Amino acid sequence: MLVLGLESSCDDCSAAVVEETLAGPVLRSLVRESQDAIHGPFGGVVPELAAREHLLQARAVMAGALVGAGVGLDDLDRIAVTRGPGLVGSLLATFSASKAVAWRAGIPWVGVHHLLGHLNAARFAAPALPFPALVLLVSGGHTHLYLAKDWTSLSLLQKTRDDAAGEAFDKAARMLDLGYPGGPLVDAAARAASRAGEPFTPPKFRDGKPSWSFSGLKTAVKLRVERNPRLASAGAQDPDVQGLCRSLQEAISAWLLKPIPALAEEHGARSLVISGGVACNSRLRTEAALVAARTGLALAIPEPRLCTDNGAMIAAAGALLEPDPDPWPRNADADLKLELGG
Ligand code: KG4
Ligand code: ZN
Repeated sequence: MLVLGLESSCDDCSAAVVEETLAGPVLRSLVRESQDAIHGPFGGVVPELAAREHLLQARAVMAGALVGAGVGLDDLDRIAVTRGPGLVGSLLATFSASKAVAWRAGIPWVGVHHLLGHLNAARFAAPALPFPALVLLVSGGHTHLYLAKDWTSLSLLQKTRDDAAGEAFDKAARMLDLGYPGGPLVDAAARAASRAGEPFTPPKFRDGKPSWSFSGLKTAVKLRVERNPRLASAGAQDPDVQGLCRSLQEAISAWLLKPIPALAEEHGARSLVISGGVACNSRLRTEAALVAARTGLALAIPEPRLCTDNGAMIAAAGALLEPDPDPWPRNADADLKLELGG
């Protein structure tokens, strides 16, 4: 089965052709247009600009994915598109385009929940993953831990109380004037560090409820920059900036992975999936391998280009869902709930 997958929920416009085989999904092509140059000067995504850019990019990424896979519209068995959650203007670009193409060419269509997409990104490398799985989805908008009984079901175990982990990376990078998006830049500076800076103290929750909090990190980085104003412009080559980046990403990785062993035991989990942009982080990837080995969990982290938002993960999830019998009245949904499937 050949599936065209489309994704434009935030600031990446992406299309991919995926062949679903008995052995799992095979990536036939993947095209992604970045909008970093547009949003970079603002230090974050500007929804109106993102939506307008997606309108210009949608046709080209679809055509690019088909050409890259060497197939035409007639060869497709299905079109899968992100239905939500996300920025509604951004979502609508590929959502509307997908319906138009499906209608014109008579191709079965399915709307996909963005987070089911992130889960299914792990299917490319680990199609035979044992379930139940703990699924840690970490990006610029999400820091959520789910229990999955298969590739199409996620039930929430815990999430951040405030900022997402990706926001902590992006905001710290902004305070250190490293550029946008911050995650990869903090990661590179941390890898160049010869030693870690002062460690960050984990937050304590009075109510004892399992969750995370990352907004305190933003304040802690701000205080360190106020104490040592040189950090604000010293740049990624500076040893103190590198040390700060290293302790920041050590803290974020350790906090994210801390609940895994106990939850694995409690829920009888057999595997751990980590996906979303922050899953590209080098420290998180190495630490996760250690935690998984110690806990006896199979580990699946997609290759970096499939961790960030992309059309391939939407195609892989869409391949497992039933096509929508009546796509035409469907709308994109900025707050799409997981229970609704896609
Ligand atoms: O999944 P994604 O592409 O988009 C959202 O749905 O948000 O994730 C983007 C986030 C950004 O916050 C970016 O800074 C972060 O992922 N990110 C990283 C790394 N690469 C991307 N964070 C830490 N280390 C990285 N190497
Ligand atoms: Zn995402």
